[in-house]
Amino acid sequence: MGKIQCIGILTSGGDAPGMNAAIRAVTRAGISNGFNIMGVYRGYEGLIKGEVKPFTTEDVSGIITRGGTILKTARCKEFTTPEGRQKAFETCQRVGIDALVVIGGNGSLTGARDFGMEFDFPVIGLPGTIDNDLYGTDATIGYDTTMNTIMECVDRIRDTANSHERIFFVEVMGRDAGFLAQNCAIACGAEAAIVPEETTDVDQLAQFMGRGIRKSKKSCIVIVSESPKCGALYYADRVKKEFPEFDVRVSILGHLQRGGSPSAHDRILASCTGAGAIEAIKQGQRNVMVGIRNNEVVYVPFSECIRTDKRFDKRLITVLNELSI
Ligand code: F6P
Repeated sequence: MGKIQCIGILTSGGDAPGMNAAIRAVTRAGISNGFNIMGVYRGYEGLIKGEVKPFTTEDVSGIITRGGTILKTARCKEFTTPEGRQKAFETCQRVGIDALVVIGGNGSLTGARDFGMEFDFPVIGLPGTIDNDLYGTDATIGYDTTMNTIMECVDRIRDTANSHERIFFVEVMGRDAGFLAQNCAIACGAEAAIVPEETTDVDQLAQFMGRGIRKSKKSCIVIVSESPKCGALYYADRVKKEFPEFDVRVSILGHLQRGGSPSAHDRILASCTGAGAIEAIKQGQRNVMVGIRNNEVVYVPFSECIRTDKRFDKRLITVLNELSI
C-alpha cells in the first residue's frame, strides 16, 4: 500500500459520551497533519454501503460538548462475515480511504482487527465504550461520564430510600463487566455491589444480608450489574421472599446511562487518544488501539486488548465493604 492520504473515521457498537470529542480530535489532528478525513456513517454498516462524507474542520465544530455520536452507530452483523468485510474493503478502494480509525468497544475492535489483517489495511482503534472493559487503557471513552450520571441518579434514589426506609436494588449497565457497578457503589456510598466478577459460588445476597446492615442503617442501596438471569429484579424477588420484613424496590437505570454531555475527563481522554491515532498512522503503526496508561499514550496491539480480560482491582470490594458498615 502506498502513502496514506485519506483516513476514514467511524463509530461502532453502543454509543458513548466522548465519541464526538474523539471524532473531532481525529478530524482536526488529521487535517493539521496534512491528511484528508472521511466521515463514515452508521459504523461498519455505512462502510459496507458506502455512506461516507469528506470532513472539514467545520464538520466537527461545536461537537465536543455533545453526547452520542454525530456519525451515528450500529452493531453490524454483516461485518462479522468475510463477505461483509470484502464489501467494506471495496468501499474503501472506491472512495479512496486508505486507513481507518474505529471508535468502539470489544466487538468493534475485533472487527477492526479482522479487517486489518485480511486486507493488510492500516486500522487504528480508540476505546469507546461506557463499560470500561477494554484491556490496555486505564479508562475507556464514556466510562467517566457514565459513572457520574449513575452517581447523580443514585444520589436521588438515596433521598427516597432514606425517607421510606427501603432497600433499593439499582441496576446499571456494564455488559459482562462490573467496573460501573463496583466503582459507582463506592462513589455513591452504596451498601453493596453485585458484580459478575464475583461468581455464584459465594452467595452475594446472603452475604450482604448477613452483614446485618439493616441493624445500623435505615435504608440500603445495592448496585447490581446488569445480567439476563440475575439482575436487580432477581435479587429484589429473593429478598422479598427470604426477608419479607424488608420493603424492597428496584430501579433499572437503562439507556439514560449512555447519554449526556461528556465529562472533562472523557473529553480529554478522547482528544488525546484521537490525536494519538493520527500520530500512530504517521509512525506507520497498524492494528493497534490507542489507550492511556499512567497518564501516557500507549499503543496496544488489537490481539492483546481483545483477548486479555480486563478485571477491576478486587481490593475495591474490600474498600466498599469496609466503608459501608
Ligand atoms: O456496551 C455498551 C452497552 O451499553 C452495555 O453496557 C449494554 O449491555 C449494551 O451496550 C446495551 O446495548 P443496546 O443499546 O444495543 O441495547
